[in-house]
Amino acid sequence: MAEALRVGIAGLGTVGASVARLLATKASELTRQCGRDIVVSAVSARSRGRDRGVDLSGATWFDDPVEMAKSAPIDVFVELIGGDEGAARASVKAALDAGRHVVTANKALLAKHGVALAEVAEKKGVLLNYEAAVAGGIPVIKTMREALAGNSVTRVFGILNGTCNYILTRMEAEGLSFDACLADAQRLGYAEADPTFDIEGHDTAHKLSILSSLAFGHRIAADDIYLEGISNITQADIRAAGELGYRIKLLGVAQRTESGIEQRVHPTMVPTASVIAQVHGVTNAVAIETDILGELLLSGPGAGGNATASAVIGDIADIAKSRPGFQHGPVFGRPAKELAPYRKARMRSHEGGYFIRFTVHDRIGVFAAIARRMADNEISLESIVQHAGGTADAAQKTVILVTHETTEAAVRKAVDGVTKDGHLIDKPQVIRIERAG
Ligand code: HSE
Repeated sequence: MAEALRVGIAGLGTVGASVARLLATKASELTRQCGRDIVVSAVSARSRGRDRGVDLSGATWFDDPVEMAKSAPIDVFVELIGGDEGAARASVKAALDAGRHVVTANKALLAKHGVALAEVAEKKGVLLNYEAAVAGGIPVIKTMREALAGNSVTRVFGILNGTCNYILTRMEAEGLSFDACLADAQRLGYAEADPTFDIEGHDTAHKLSILSSLAFGHRIAADDIYLEGISNITQADIRAAGELGYRIKLLGVAQRTESGIEQRVHPTMVPTASVIAQVHGVTNAVAIETDILGELLLSGPGAGGNATASAVIGDIADIAKSRPGFQHGPVFGRPAKELAPYRKARMRSHEGGYFIRFTVHDRIGVFAAIARRMADNEISLESIVQHAGGTADAAQKTVILVTHETTEAAVRKAVDGVTKDGHLIDKPQVIRIERAG
């Protein structure tokens, strides 16, 4: 049998501890599949004493993950520290420089430094595997990088944050408050260390930037993503969506348009009957539309220790199965140096349907004024509804519009116009509608 693959794990939080436990409990199965043992020979974490449910006494302990990356006797450095700078970045760079394979679940690091790190990995001829960084346990990176060879992607979109989907699902199903659902997501280990990363859409944007690069062959452009989180979604929006035949999801969408690549993250109305609308709780889903295949939808557990660990272990096993002289594919599907510059489409040119909710004074002419602003901006309405009992205050009414396909620029102008007319009591709510099968 080939020599054992020696693994060093940096970071023993929810995911790191799951990886260590699964490598121990699944050891003989992995050996059978990979043709060699996989052993944890070094670990690094902040707290040495904590019980992680696995015996790590055979591994050398490093207080400093960078030192471990540089000098531990390991073949693979597994980075589960998190964060786009500091120890995570320094240790991954050190491991690649030292010619060691790297496995990481760190989407923030890849979103910011992925191309530079890929260049180092490709120069050194080692693997930089990151399946766990996008959509938890769903094997979307392998699918896009390997299984879809030859396909041209036109749009990739999905539910990429388990915490947000968990919150929206429970708000809709149980009428619970946003805060109560977020607290449960944190307790269950789905949320990021700073949950604003989840709820304000940054985590989804990091993952989307990686998918977009794989889909369209451009350099990762995580700072150029249109971003809106879910913290302003109310029960009123969720109920109105339901009445109109939609469900609200936080989607990340990247699509090729005539003016460039559109990357956007925002709460989105999807038809209740669509497949993606059936994706509940912490489950993630990624839809990939291509010229050859049509639409592919992958769904599965998107967050949590075991889901993420499953993808990490798959990446480690790939390295264990690889042999010297084996030509590794490039990290982002094509050589990092050949990734094209990102050509950004302007958000104002985005085309689609819109849901708009106005809270207005109940007086003559308001409804007509809203309709006029829409017509002035050439927005065709699919429906316009005034709720008799829209709010607790009888002097207020809720007006809900659903538009046919129009542009972001037209909607912004129309909504600004309605705001200037002085009929609104509250900030207008605008939610984009996404075509989904
Ligand atoms: N906080 C992330 C989520 C974890 O909720 O999806 C997985 O990246």
